[in-house]
Amino acid sequence: MIRADQQACGNGDYVDGSGSCTGDDKVALYAELSGQIDGLLTGETDTVANLANAAAAIYHTLPSLNWAGFYLARGSELVLGPFQGKPACVRIRVGNGVCGTAALRGESVLVPDVHAFPGHIACDAASRSELVVPLIRDGTLIGVLDLDSPLLARFDARDQVGCEALVASFATGAQSRLLDRAAPHLASKGRVHMLVDHRTYTVKPGTMAKQLVLYQEFGLAPQKRHLGEPLAYLVTESGEVNTYIHMWVYKDAADRAARRAAMSADPEWQTYLQKTGEAGYLIAQRNNLMTPAPFEPINR
Ligand code: SME
Repeated sequence: MIRADQQACGNGDYVDGSGSCTGDDKVALYAELSGQIDGLLTGETDTVANLANAAAAIYHTLPSLNWAGFYLARGSELVLGPFQGKPACVRIRVGNGVCGTAALRGESVLVPDVHAFPGHIACDAASRSELVVPLIRDGTLIGVLDLDSPLLARFDARDQVGCEALVASFATGAQSRLLDRAAPHLASKGRVHMLVDHRTYTVKPGTMAKQLVLYQEFGLAPQKRHLGEPLAYLVTESGEVNTYIHMWVYKDAADRAARRAAMSADPEWQTYLQKTGEAGYLIAQRNNLMTPAPFEPINR
């Protein structure tokens, strides 16, 4: 077992008892940490207590850290949550620093040398490397787990995988309530991590009404069956008057591909495609896949 007072090697491995570097122990260490956190959180639903104990377990189990803790999503900002280490900056805008970058991208950010990361926010001047893993539940950003080390290149892919597995376990089973309560405001406000398919269709002048009737009669039902309710279905009132727009919401690209494949295999949808093709009202279509800005999640 690795002790907290053991050092990490420059390449992200730990120094074992004989003084040489070992990588295998990292996997065992994260398994041990996961079990420890599981035990600490089971039976307790208070968010602050659970995040605090999780931060303490991480800080005292992983070697060579000078800071470990959570920032929680509050609208367009991350706000300091339970942590271990020196006092830290309280508010970080989504998109700023390592934490805000991980929050904006919705993916982990591993920084071997914080001095080489543009915009790094130095809370503790001793920090030399950093790993930030976002906490995401059902497509909603809840916050981030932030680990700092005074050693260069302290973290590697095994740490990233280990921490991602840890935070994933927060989002399932008994620990899921931890995240519900960590960001109730956000859960009610909406989702940032979703894909909006914004589709603009152009019809031949004078055929808008006929195209809409055709769609309503044959296309609407099979499309809703597979894609769910559209976010909006809009006809241009003024401007490019021969266009209409519809927007569909997906969890991610894989969800979109699966739903569209199922729709494509539906004979009712194929009937609509055939009819609209024969009618010839449509002359152009284009689509953009978009995500909500972090300060304005979509509520659905
Ligand atoms: N370094 C972080 C700020 C948080 S502290 O490290 C605790 C960042 O750049 O976002």
